[in-house]
Amino acid sequence: MKFVEPFPAERLPELLRRMPKAELHMHIEGSLEPELMFALAARNGLSVPYPDVESLRCAYVFNNLQEFLDIYHAGTLVLRNEQDFYDMAWAYLQRAAADNVLHTEIFFDTQTHTGHGVSAEVVINGLHRACADAKAGLGLSASLILCFLRHLSEAEAFEALEQALPQRDKLVGIGLASSELGHPPEKFAKVFAKARALDFRLVAHAGEEGPPAYIWSALDALKVERIDHGVQAMRDPALIQRLVQGKVPLTVCPLSNLKLRVFPTLAQHNLGRMLEAGLVATVNSDDPAYFGGYLNENYTQTFAALGLAAQHAWQLAHNSFEASFVEASAKRAMHDRLDGFFETFE
Ligand code: HPA
Ligand code: ZN
Repeated sequence: MKFVEPFPAERLPELLRRMPKAELHMHIEGSLEPELMFALAARNGLSVPYPDVESLRCAYVFNNLQEFLDIYHAGTLVLRNEQDFYDMAWAYLQRAAADNVLHTEIFFDTQTHTGHGVSAEVVINGLHRACADAKAGLGLSASLILCFLRHLSEAEAFEALEQALPQRDKLVGIGLASSELGHPPEKFAKVFAKARALDFRLVAHAGEEGPPAYIWSALDALKVERIDHGVQAMRDPALIQRLVQGKVPLTVCPLSNLKLRVFPTLAQHNLGRMLEAGLVATVNSDDPAYFGGYLNENYTQTFAALGLAAQHAWQLAHNSFEASFVEASAKRAMHDRLDGFFETFE
C-alpha cells in the first residue's frame, strides 16, 4: 500500500498496531502494574498502602507532574531485589513485543532506589538481564538510559554517575527526569559534561511543563541529542527552527500529556502540528501503568483524536528508528522492516 492515500480509516488502528516501531521514552518504574506491585510487596514482606488493585488504580488521577511523581515514587518501594527489577522489566518487554516494538530504550533511575537502601548494582543487573533475555526470547532489542533526578542536587547526580560506572557497559545513555519546574537543565551542566566525556548518549526531559527556555538550555548547556517531551517548543518559532534544522528528535508522550493535564484533551494535542512543522517527533508511553496505555494505545488514541493518517503513522515509526541509539546497520534493518511492512500491508 506504499503511502497510497486514502487508506481506509477503519483499518488504521490495525495498521498502527501491526506496524514495526521503536519506543524511546518509557520509565521502567512507570510500567509497574498494580497487580505486580502487590505481588512484589507480598514476596518482600511489605504492604501497599491501598486495600487492593482496584483502589490503587482509582488513585491514578493527577492534576500535574508532581502529583504523579509522588504516587510513582511510593510505588517503587516494593522493589527490593534484583529479581524484582527483572520481573518488572520482563513484564514491560513482553507488552512491548506484543505492540510490535522492535527496539526500546528504557529509562530508569537509581537515585529513587539507593534512597531506600537498594544498590545501583542490584537495579542495573536486574534490568539488564531482562534486556538481554528479550533479545533471545522476544526478538526485541532493549537498552538502558540512567536518568538523574532533577529535584536533587548536581552533587547527588555525580554520585549516581559514579555508582553506575562499574556497570558502564550495560548502559547506553544518561537522561534527566522528575520535577521539571524550578529545576532547569543548566543545573546539571557539569555532570552532563562528565557523562559526555564518558561517551554516554545524552537526553533530557524538557518542555513538558517547563518553558521553551528549558529546551534551549538542554540543547546548549547539556548538549543532549534528543529532547524528552518538548511539546512546549511549539510556543517558540526560533526554537522550532533550531530543532527542525538540527533534526533533534522529540519523544512525545500523548497519553502522559493528557493524564498530567499538559493538554486539556487529546484533540488539543500538538503532535499533528509538530509533524507539520517538520519536527522529528516520536510517540511513546512514558509511564504506561499510570497513564492508561502502552505504546499502541498511545498511537491509536492519538490518531483517532487528531485525525492523523497512514502517512503520519509511517513518519512517526520512521522517526522512532531514526532517533534511536542503535548502530547504523541495525537502524537500516529497522527502516527496511518498516518500509517492507508498508509495501506489503493488506
Ligand atoms: N516527567 C518527568 N519525570 C518523570 C516522568 C515524566 O513524565 N515520568 C517519570 N519520571
Ligand atoms: Zn518521562
